[in-house]
Amino acid sequence: MSLRKFPENFLWGAATAAYQIEGAWDEDGKGESIWDRFTHRQHTILNGDTGDVACDHYHRMPEDVALIKELRLNSYRFSISWPRIIPQGRGDVNEKGLDFYDRLADKLLEAGIAPSATLNHWDLPQAIQDAGGWPNRDSADWFAEYARVVFRRLGDRVAMWSTHNEPWVLAFLGYAYGIFAPGIADYSQAYQTAHHLLLAHGKAVQAFRAEGGSGEIGIVLSFGHYLPASDSSADRAAAQRVYENNSALFLQPLFKGSYPEMLFDWIGSHAPKIQEGDMEIIRQPVNFLGVNYYTTETISFAQWGGLLKHVSQPVSAPGWGRTEMGWGVNPAGLLAVLLDIKENFGSPKIYITENGCALKDTPDASGFVADWGRVNYLRDHFMAAHDAIQQGVDVRGYYVWSLMDNFEWAHGCAPRFGLVRVDCETQERIPKQSALWYSEVIAGNAVQE
Ligand code: FCB
Repeated sequence: MSLRKFPENFLWGAATAAYQIEGAWDEDGKGESIWDRFTHRQHTILNGDTGDVACDHYHRMPEDVALIKELRLNSYRFSISWPRIIPQGRGDVNEKGLDFYDRLADKLLEAGIAPSATLNHWDLPQAIQDAGGWPNRDSADWFAEYARVVFRRLGDRVAMWSTHNEPWVLAFLGYAYGIFAPGIADYSQAYQTAHHLLLAHGKAVQAFRAEGGSGEIGIVLSFGHYLPASDSSADRAAAQRVYENNSALFLQPLFKGSYPEMLFDWIGSHAPKIQEGDMEIIRQPVNFLGVNYYTTETISFAQWGGLLKHVSQPVSAPGWGRTEMGWGVNPAGLLAVLLDIKENFGSPKIYITENGCALKDTPDASGFVADWGRVNYLRDHFMAAHDAIQQGVDVRGYYVWSLMDNFEWAHGCAPRFGLVRVDCETQERIPKQSALWYSEVIAGNAVQE
C-alpha cells in the first residue's frame, strides 16, 4: 500500500449544472430554456420527471455552499443558466438572475472555494431555439454577448471559466438523435451545431480577452476511450470514425485549426457550412482544457449502425461490473485519453472536470449511504490521473460528478451520481461514505492505493 501524493495546489472539487440542481425554473424573471420545454412534453424523460424543482438549489444555495466547505472541497464547478441572465436569449438582462450567481461567487470565495463557472451546460433559452437554435449562425454572436454580460459582472471573482460543457453531447444527443433537448433528429443540424458551438466558444474567448479578464478560460469536452472490437480493418476504421466524430471533431479545430478530413469525407453533405476566418476564431489560445471521462467502449463496424456505421459495447476492467447507467468502468481509459491529448494536441493544461458513477445507493435507517463502490471507483480513477501526471500530463484538478444527487437529463431523477444524497421528498442533504472518504483525500492531498 503506497500513498500517491498529488501536486501542490491541486484543485479537488465537485461539479453540478444549473438545470440539474437549481429548480426555480420560472422564478425571479427567468426565461424558459429548451430543457424546460423538452421536459414539459410527454414521454421525453423517464418517469415524466422534470427539473422544475430539482435539488431546489436556487433557494438552498447558502446551505449547499456550507456543505461544500464542510467537505473541504477547494473548488466548485457550476454552470450559469443563460435564460436566467437573459430571459429571451438576447436583449434585456435580468438583474435578479445575475444577483443569484453574484451571491454564489461571494459565498464560495468567503468559504475559500475557487469558483469554476461554465457558461453553457445545455440550457439554451427557448427563444433562441425558436429563432433556429444552435444551427442558426447568429447564436454564436448571441452567446458571446451573453458571455460578455456575465464576464462584466463576475469576472472580478470567478477565476476559471468554461464556455461550453460537452458540445458533442449537445450537438448529437440534442440535434442528431433527438434524445436530449431540443429533441431534433437531423445530422446536418447536428454538425452545423458543432461548428457554431466552436465558433461561439472562440467569440466568447475573444470577448473575455477584450474585457481584460484576469482569470482562465477554456472549454469542457466529453471523452470516451474507443477500442476497435477486433483487428479487422472494418472495425479499426469504425473505431477511428467514432474517435474523429466524438473527440477530434472538437480537439482538432480548437488546437490545430482544422477539421478531421476522413470524417468529413464520410459524412458528405452533412458537413457544416464554414465561413472564411471561422477556423482562426475557433483556434483562440485557451488557458485549459476540461476533460470529462466516464466510459471505454469497443467499436465494431455495423452495416446498419447509423451514419457512422458502428455499434459500441461498454468495457469494464477485470473486477468491475456496470454502473446503474449501464456504463462500463475502466480507469485505464482515463489515462489513455489524457495521454492522447498530451501527445497529439499540444499538452494543454487540464482539469478533469467530470468523472463519477451512478450506483444503486441503499440508505440505512438514518439516511446514510455506505457507497463503498463509489469510493473504489473514485480511488481507481484518481490513481489513473496520478499515473497520467507521472507520465507528464499537466493535470491540475479533479472534479467529481456530482456534488449531490440530481436530475440526470433524459434519465430523470433515478440515477444517483452524488457524493451527497438528496432525499427527493424532503430535500435533506446527507453526505455519503464517498463524500467522507473524499474529504480525507483532500485533507492529505493524496490517495492511498
Ligand atoms: C455528463 C454531463 C453531466 C452529467 C454526467 C453524468 O455528460 O455533462 O451533466 O449528466 O454526464
